[in-house]
Amino acid sequence: MRKPVIAANWKMYKTVSESREFVKKVVPACESFTGVEVILCPTFLSLANMVEDLKNTSIKLGAQDLFWEKEGAYTGEVSPYLLSDLGVSYVIVGHSERRGYFGETDSQVNDKVKAAFSFNIKPIFCIGESLEQREEGITKKVIERQLEQGLLGVDSSSAADLTIAYEPIWAIGTGRSASVEDAREVIAFIRQWVFDNFSPEIAQNIPILYGGSVNPDNLEDLLAQEEIDGALIGGASLKEDSFIKMVTAANNF
Ligand code: PGA
Repeated sequence: MRKPVIAANWKMYKTVSESREFVKKVVPACESFTGVEVILCPTFLSLANMVEDLKNTSIKLGAQDLFWEKEGAYTGEVSPYLLSDLGVSYVIVGHSERRGYFGETDSQVNDKVKAAFSFNIKPIFCIGESLEQREEGITKKVIERQLEQGLLGVDSSSAADLTIAYEPIWAIGTGRSASVEDAREVIAFIRQWVFDNFSPEIAQNIPILYGGSVNPDNLEDLLAQEEIDGALIGGASLKEDSFIKMVTAANNF
């Protein structure tokens, strides 16, 4: 049985003190939960304080991006070496906002995935099609390309630590979630790809999440699908109350 995962992607929201306030409210409400893996991904600025605040809790910390080099003259970048030294466990890689606004390519996403693994940080590898691609009927082709190129050269022992997030671009931040059936179908396709390209065991064990306008009202329908192991949540993860509701629902699943 895979444990449900609830991952919060705070994007460019929350000051350091707002992040710490959130943790103060959410930790006591979720601390005793053993049936859910909770991951908070704040901005880089909040990571150092949150590592301290989350010490001795079961809640994990993730970054929203990373650069692939260990260190060097790369103004403005943050490396996996720096993140792992701080105690960060996860990192979002290849989010469609990074691919779309910052021109990240599949090959750069691949470098980032491999860099994260080499410092024992678990990547939350994001893939998903645009509305045009869905309407053209090429969703699975796009997903397959993102999997093939983004995970190129990743070996099976690393792949066992992957989390994959299927996030159709048209569903992110739009209030228009994919239907449960659409999400289920693409996630089943992704799991089959992992089965064929890594191993049946890895396909059986790794979490594959859905992301895109997940909120307390639609989360349970998504989790009720055997294929869907949890959610990567933006907007609805910012408010303590709705986040606690979602984590509680996942824990009770
Ligand atoms: P959303 O964002 O929940 O606000 O749609 C999800 C994401 O971008 O990961």
